[in-house]
Amino acid sequence: MVIGIRKDFKLPQRLSYQHSILIVDDEDSILNAFKRILADEDYEVRVANNGLDGLNILRSAKKPFSLIISDQRMPEMNGVQFFAQAKEIFPDAVRILLTGYADSDSIIEAINKGGVHLYFTKPWHEEEILLHIKQSLSKVEILAENRRLMEMIQNKNKELMALNKKLEKKAEEKTNDLLIQTEKLKESYKKSQIILDGIVRTLSKIIETRDPYTSGHEDQVAKIACKIAKEMKLSEDQLSFIHIAATLHDIGKISVPSEILTKPSVLSKLEMEIIKTHCKVANDVLKSIEFPYPVAEIIYQHHERMDGSGYPRGLKGDEIALEARIIGVADVIDAMASYRPYRPALGVDAAIQEIVKFKGITYDPVVVDACLKVYKKTSANPKDGKSLSIN
Ligand SMILES: [Fe+2]
Repeated sequence: MVIGIRKDFKLPQRLSYQHSILIVDDEDSILNAFKRILADEDYEVRVANNGLDGLNILRSAKKPFSLIISDQRMPEMNGVQFFAQAKEIFPDAVRILLTGYADSDSIIEAINKGGVHLYFTKPWHEEEILLHIKQSLSKVEILAENRRLMEMIQNKNKELMALNKKLEKKAEEKTNDLLIQTEKLKESYKKSQIILDGIVRTLSKIIETRDPYTSGHEDQVAKIACKIAKEMKLSEDQLSFIHIAATLHDIGKISVPSEILTKPSVLSKLEMEIIKTHCKVANDVLKSIEFPYPVAEIIYQHHERMDGSGYPRGLKGDEIALEARIIGVADVIDAMASYRPYRPALGVDAAIQEIVKFKGITYDPVVVDACLKVYKKTSANPKDGKSLSIN
């Protein structure tokens, strides 16, 4: 608590105010003596002849009183009674009691009931009382400054807390916005995937209409390729990529005449050359589509072989993308295992023997090993089907 400040008073910004002092005494000579003592000081000095007048001055004061001095012996209201009420008005003003004699009972009462800080017995020394007044007012100044700083800190804290709450609210709103946007993006991505899947399936059906003998080939190659890729622990993204590329791997056959595709006998050299164009045609058709993966390039490479014996560009080893190497193996497995117009189905076992025979020569050994593992797993599980090409 701060001395000398009434509760409803606002403190000045800086501690440069003039102290107000109230002196209450029924003897004019005492009041005049105080006026004289304090004349050279820059204080506002108010006087009253009795307690009631003194209280009226305090109640109507426009600025706080720092110090209140009162005589104890006064008619109607004594010093202790006056201080008891004055204390209610300015609870922290320094209170000094003047007594005519050293009456210990009244002094104790003054301290307990009137909240008196100091007392002087008459006659008192002017220098001594002036010194005490100055010391008391110094305390008032220090305490007032302390209160001003405390209030400043409290206000700043309130501002900071309000700002913090605002920031928290904004951050919460931003987070919610981001969550909503993320959900929308996820939804949009999901829809895009469904549309992409639909387009890929439609294109795959178009290829099948060109060559009914290979019906279901695209689907089976996609399934086998994805099983191999999964066995090789490729990422979900790569699996999606492989699935799309495998489903569309023969789309270039759209430019190959149906008579060649469905010819029930061995193809001539020229017919084989026409067939081989399907890789480049697929690349030409698909390269302008912005798939999330390089689908056109992978399909372009699906007949390339590790030793450079494949087509159309004769790529070797690492020049061929891993995804194309996987689709190449899956393509051979399903093609050999299935019926063709020019030969009966050779079966999965023959297809497996073929890729084992050429493992490390035309086929990627890692892909072949993964394919063999998948084959063993599907063979061991009758429900999964003996064939690699069945789910
Ligand atoms: Fe092909």
